[in-house]
Amino acid sequence: MDNINIECEPKSIGIRLPLQLESKDLFLHQNGCLLLVSEDELKFINEKRKYNNSKNSILEWGEDKKVYLTEEGDAFIINKPLGEGKFGEVKLAQNIDDGAFMAAKECIFSPRGSEGKTKERYFNKEKENLQGLGKLAGQLNMLNKESKQKTIISIFPYVHGIDYKDINNLNSKKTGLLIVKAIEALAEFHDKGYLHLDINPGNLKWDEKEKKCTLIDLGNANKGLEKKDVTILGPQGALAPELDPDKIIKVGRTYTTKTEMFSMGILIEDLLDKVTDKNSMEFIELQTLVAALKSSAEIRPDTLETIKKSIEVAEKIGLDPTYLNSTKALFERMAAKMILEPLERLTQELNKITISESLKIENVGQPAVTFSNEAEKVASNTPYILPILENHFENPIIISKIGIGNK
Ligand SMILES: Nc1ncnc2c1ncn2[C@@H]1O[C@H](COP(=O)(O)OP(=O)(O)OP(=O)(O)O)[C@@H](O)[C@H]1O
Ligand SMILES: [Mg+2]
Repeated sequence: MDNINIECEPKSIGIRLPLQLESKDLFLHQNGCLLLVSEDELKFINEKRKYNNSKNSILEWGEDKKVYLTEEGDAFIINKPLGEGKFGEVKLAQNIDDGAFMAAKECIFSPRGSEGKTKERYFNKEKENLQGLGKLAGQLNMLNKESKQKTIISIFPYVHGIDYKDINNLNSKKTGLLIVKAIEALAEFHDKGYLHLDINPGNLKWDEKEKKCTLIDLGNANKGLEKKDVTILGPQGALAPELDPDKIIKVGRTYTTKTEMFSMGILIEDLLDKVTDKNSMEFIELQTLVAALKSSAEIRPDTLETIKKSIEVAEKIGLDPTYLNSTKALFERMAAKMILEPLERLTQELNKITISESLKIENVGQPAVTFSNEAEKVASNTPYILPILENHFENPIIISKIGIGNK
């Protein structure tokens, strides 16, 4: 009888290879890991790690073999280029202990000049943001004493997919999916309490298999949803008009979630410029998003309104509803936060009502909702409370009788 031993299957058999790799680039190791180094190379690297104590340094051998050793004691083998930006070259990397694919962004500069200072600031900021989001795998800082050149290398997770800037020849419906997911990615970033401040098609990646958009390039991003600044940040050519860099008095210019949404409007406009069916109903629908996001600050939708609008458009153009599950879940989460946070604040202030008392459900035949006076005051000043209540309680008539409406 044949002996089938499932345990023999390599652990990493289901691994998704980065687009830049082929299976022949990888070696299968005894522990089931698929690595970019052979068994001999792995032994060599581990010997060096043990005896050299060479942390925060680069180990090089052969023609172009390189390993970055971080302060934390991790080792990353460096492979093919992933892309290049203003601040540095990004290469594919792999953690040789667990096989995880990473990206390594590297920059060599003279720390003296103003350009060097800008680069250093960018790398420090990106490090801080990646750390804050739990995404930094390590950063190497090295100074070449002879040339006085500084090298900084940041290592963070590899993101599957292609840049939005390289997307061409799609029809409007497919582009619509990429747009909804771009809005979702930005809204999620805002939900985590960050502004990205450089929304442009080179900083968004599309993963076709997962139908997911990921924001990259966090060197301009800011913890906090408002940033006052006198310097010009953000995507060139896609700055909201209220941030007009030609203003003589630059003080008081404030980047907000709404200024980000303007940049998103420009990004969507650029994507729509490249679609194959400009006369379609889907194209016209998607243009309504551009018009809303490019409108003046007073009437421009905020993050939550933008997600809501994008879901409505997605439904009109007939996108597969399963693709919208995560978008809808995010909308609900953010909307609930907008209701609960003010209610919680009010509860604390008055120190007498609690959320459960203020949102009392009476089970008389059908569920109804009653509010205490104070809670009602807050609720009526809280946008989006109606759709949320309607979703949670099945009797919208009673809710609307209370007089709590949309914004
Ligand atoms: N985590 C990642 N996974 C995969 N590819 C990446 C990753 N980060 C960056 N890249 C690739 O490298 C390119 C440059 O990266 P990034 O935008 O972060 O660099 P940058 O120097 O800040 O660029 P710029 O400021 O000019 O936009 C990206 O457009 C992308 O193609
Ligand atoms: Mg970039």
